Amino acid sequence: MKIVVLTGAGISAESGISTFRDSNGLWENHNIEEIATPWGWEMNPDLVLEFYNQRRRQLHEVSPNLAHYALAELEKHHEVVIITQNVDNLHERAGSTNIIHLHGELLKARDEVTDDVYDNPGDINLGDFSPNGYQLRPHIVWFHEPVPLLDKAVEEVRNADHLVVIGTSLVVYPAASLLFFTPPDCKITIIDKSIPETAIKVDSLEGSACEKVPQFVNSII
Ligand code: OAD
Repeated sequence: MKIVVLTGAGISAESGISTFRDSNGLWENHNIEEIATPWGWEMNPDLVLEFYNQRRRQLHEVSPNLAHYALAELEKHHEVVIITQNVDNLHERAGSTNIIHLHGELLKARDEVTDDVYDNPGDINLGDFSPNGYQLRPHIVWFHEPVPLLDKAVEEVRNADHLVVIGTSLVVYPAASLLFFTPPDCKITIIDKSIPETAIKVDSLEGSACEKVPQFVNSII
């Protein structure tokens, strides 16, 4: 069976990484326009760099949780593709091997002119240049920017037997539109602390990712 998993911030919440839209989430305490848009970057790059430098430093202090590990285990039994909106590396660290980072990766930096991408475990500061001689920026897909891996993600969903959606409010497009590319006989299961509304029929498992994802995985292996 081919299982495609779409994850969002909720799967990393129990590892200690804040979600965006829960109470006290990142977008309650930071201005999206200033932090996650091309014009925010143009207006105040120091503020943007500091926001992502903090997020990147935090990655070195957190660990994958039971939900990430359960998805890695699932690979031993089925073909699994993880499409994540998360920019952390917790799926990789738990052992998943087939991961599409739809919204970019904290541990990479991008040349702001050529879009060349580089591994980057540490801070990025103004004056840090790529080998091409241009400023490096976080490798994050900001609002109003294209999503380069979208076609690849759509292709995976089109071939899924089962789509499992975990810990995402499904309010950010085009990621949320992936549900509409499932083939007619594809089962869809949503696992979330608070199941988001969808226009199509889904099975739902309401509860925390660390509780429900291992249970779900055990039920299908
Ligand atoms: P949100 O913060 O919008 O949604 C988090 C979801 O996780 C909600 O549905 C919560 O109910 C659920 N949740 C929270 N804690 C949970 C837990 N312990 N177990 C299970 N579910 C839990 O985050 P995303 O949907 O990932 O984009 O946000 C999508 C995009 O918006 C992000 O990738 C980011 C943001 O702007 C960019 O920065 C480009």
